[in-house]
Amino acid sequence: MKVVLIGFMGTGKSKVGKILAQKLGWPHFDTDDMITKDVGASPGDIIRKRGEAPFREIERKAVQLLSTIDRCVISTGGGVPLDKSNMSDLSKNAHTVWLKARPDTILKRAGDLKSRPLIDPKNPLESIRQRLSEREKSYAVAQSAIETDGLNPDQVADQIFSLVKPA
Ligand code: S3P
Repeated sequence: MKVVLIGFMGTGKSKVGKILAQKLGWPHFDTDDMITKDVGASPGDIIRKRGEAPFREIERKAVQLLSTIDRCVISTGGGVPLDKSNMSDLSKNAHTVWLKARPDTILKRAGDLKSRPLIDPKNPLESIRQRLSEREKSYAVAQSAIETDGLNPDQVADQIFSLVKPA
């Protein structure tokens, strides 16, 4: 069994994944970190310099590799569920969890928008709203969903731990 965290950017997938992995005593993998190490550039830089499609190909390879690993926690980049093959690979023998947050919460957590090429800096809130609504169906394939507004990463990790803790 493994735990796979999906959801929009700024919903806490990376931080929560790290904490949850510690609680479970399992290794933690983060698709964005893997890509950054392999390519030597962050997802934001890859998208800005090469475009979104080449980034998705690199991301697909990271997902294929991670889907072969058991007893781990995987934090995915926000666009991973857009490719159905990614979710069918990651859902095998896994508990998938959708971390949700309101657009205003996402904007507050997003940090420097220069590193977020998929958010329009001229109208960030509207841009987040629109992309989120386009993606909801892809995220809704998760087995569980957690509203993270008003919760810190520890609290979210606790909630997931009680959902998935081995008996
Ligand atoms: C993306 C989210 C980012 C990163 C890339 C694309 C997206 O990851 O993979 O910039 O399409 O939503 P986080 O969700 O970890 O910010």
